[in-house]
Amino acid sequence: MKRVLESELMDDPDQATVYAGSDLDSAYYLFVWCFQKFFPDLASETDILDLGCGAAGIPLRLAKLLPYCRIDGVDGADHMLEHGRKAVQNANLGHRVKLFHGILPDSLDLPHSHYGAIVSNSFLHHLVDPMVLWNALGTYGEANAAILIVDLIRPSNKEDVQNVIEKYMPDAPPLLRRDMMNSLQAAFTMEEVTAQLQLAGLTEKLRLKRVSPFQFAAYGRLTADA
Ligand SMILES: C[S@@+](CC[C@H](N)C(=O)[O-])C[C@H]1O[C@@H](n2cnc3c(N)ncnc32)[C@H](O)[C@@H]1O
Repeated sequence: MKRVLESELMDDPDQATVYAGSDLDSAYYLFVWCFQKFFPDLASETDILDLGCGAAGIPLRLAKLLPYCRIDGVDGADHMLEHGRKAVQNANLGHRVKLFHGILPDSLDLPHSHYGAIVSNSFLHHLVDPMVLWNALGTYGEANAAILIVDLIRPSNKEDVQNVIEKYMPDAPPLLRRDMMNSLQAAFTMEEVTAQLQLAGLTEKLRLKRVSPFQFAAYGRLTADA
C-alpha cells in the first residue's frame, strides 16, 4: 500500500480534546515502558525535548517517572498546546514541563540549544518529509543524547489497516478511529524507516525495533554504536 499523507498539524479543537483524554493511555504506557527499558540509567535530572508533543501526554508521564528532569515540548498546533498547558497546570508540573509553539523544520526557540534526551511519539508519520525529524536530532541533541522515537508502521493493505483499528481500538471515539485509520496509511514501513536512518547517518547509533504489532521504536545514543 502506498503512503497517503495526512495533514501535518492537528489543529482541530476536537482532535485536541480527544488527545487530551484517556483514550491514548495504552499508547503512552508503551512509550514509557520503552523509555524505561531502553534507558534504565538515564540521569534523573536530564533535560528532555519532546518533538510533536501534542497535549503533553508524554511530557507529563516522563516528568512523573523522573522527578528531577525538565521537559520542553514543542508542537505547531495551538489547540493541542492549550490542552497540554492546562494538564501541566493541573498536575502541578509547570516548574518542570514547559510547552512551546514551533513548527519543524523551522528553527525552534527553546530554553536550551541542546538536550540530553530527545523523544517523540506518533509525530514522524505526520511529516511530509520524514528527514525533518531525523535531522532535528542532530540539531537539538547533545553529543551523547538519548533518543527514543516511537511511531506507527504502515500495514501492507487497507484491510490490515481496518483490522488494526478493530482489534486494538474497538471502543475508541469515532474521531480517534478515523485519525488512526489516516495515520496508519500515512505511516512508514520498517524498510522506509531503515532507509531514513541510513540517509541521516544514524544507522550505527539507533536501533530499530518493532515494539507492538503496529509500532516501532528507534532508540539509542547519538554517539554510541548500536
Ligand atoms: C499524532 S500527534 C502526537 C502527539 C503526542 N506526541 C502524543 O503522543 O500524544 C502529532 C502531533 O505532531 C504535531 N505536528 C505535526 N507536524 C508538525 C510540525 N511540522 N512541527 C511541529 N508539530 C507538528 C501535530 O500538531 C500533533 O500535535
